[in-house]
Amino acid sequence: MADSTATTSDSSAPTDGVHPTGTGRRAAIWSVVVGTVVGLFPKVTGLLAFLSPIVRSPKVPDFYADKETDGPSEYLRICSLAALEVDKPQRFAVISDQIDGWNFTPNQPIGSVYVQKSADDTVQVFNTTCPHAGCSVSINSDSSAYLCPCHNSAFNLDGTKLISQSGRPNPSPRNLDSIEQIEIVEGDVWINFQNFYPGRHEKKAKV
Ligand code: FES
Repeated sequence: MADSTATTSDSSAPTDGVHPTGTGRRAAIWSVVVGTVVGLFPKVTGLLAFLSPIVRSPKVPDFYADKETDGPSEYLRICSLAALEVDKPQRFAVISDQIDGWNFTPNQPIGSVYVQKSADDTVQVFNTTCPHAGCSVSINSDSSAYLCPCHNSAFNLDGTKLISQSGRPNPSPRNLDSIEQIEIVEGDVWINFQNFYPGRHEKKAKV
């Protein structure tokens, strides 16, 4: 005879106290999924932020993007022709806007040049970096030569290596680096500025 006090068995109840029920298993799976997603979120957003400069273009402010220039593209304005004295080289900073993956920085110095004007208003431009080891040359007191203070390289006003009267060797491996691409636009001097590798016999532009 059946025991009238026995209860109907519950199929969802634990059977041995170790194995979770169906509801318990689903809860455990969900907690693992949610935990994984929450754990990965900061890593994924950090990775996207790290890679963003590669996949997006740098943003140039509108007022700069709309800025009109009178000179040829890729050229930089250096000075006005009228500001130059004939046969008196003058030094000017070369200023350009800088763009990298993260930043747009306007009006940054990227080098310097000597500009010399002849009587017929033609212009010669030299990079001030010494071709020997990269120091900066200066014009001497009577504007007759370019001198480097580091190891005594010297150059004539046309940029050729100067042979010292004393016979002291000139350590520069080549002439002073001229800037070849020069344009005069509405009375202003514009150049396509380049830096060059020092310490070489051949003149090779840096890219
Ligand atoms: S760097 Fe100019 S002489 Fe050496």
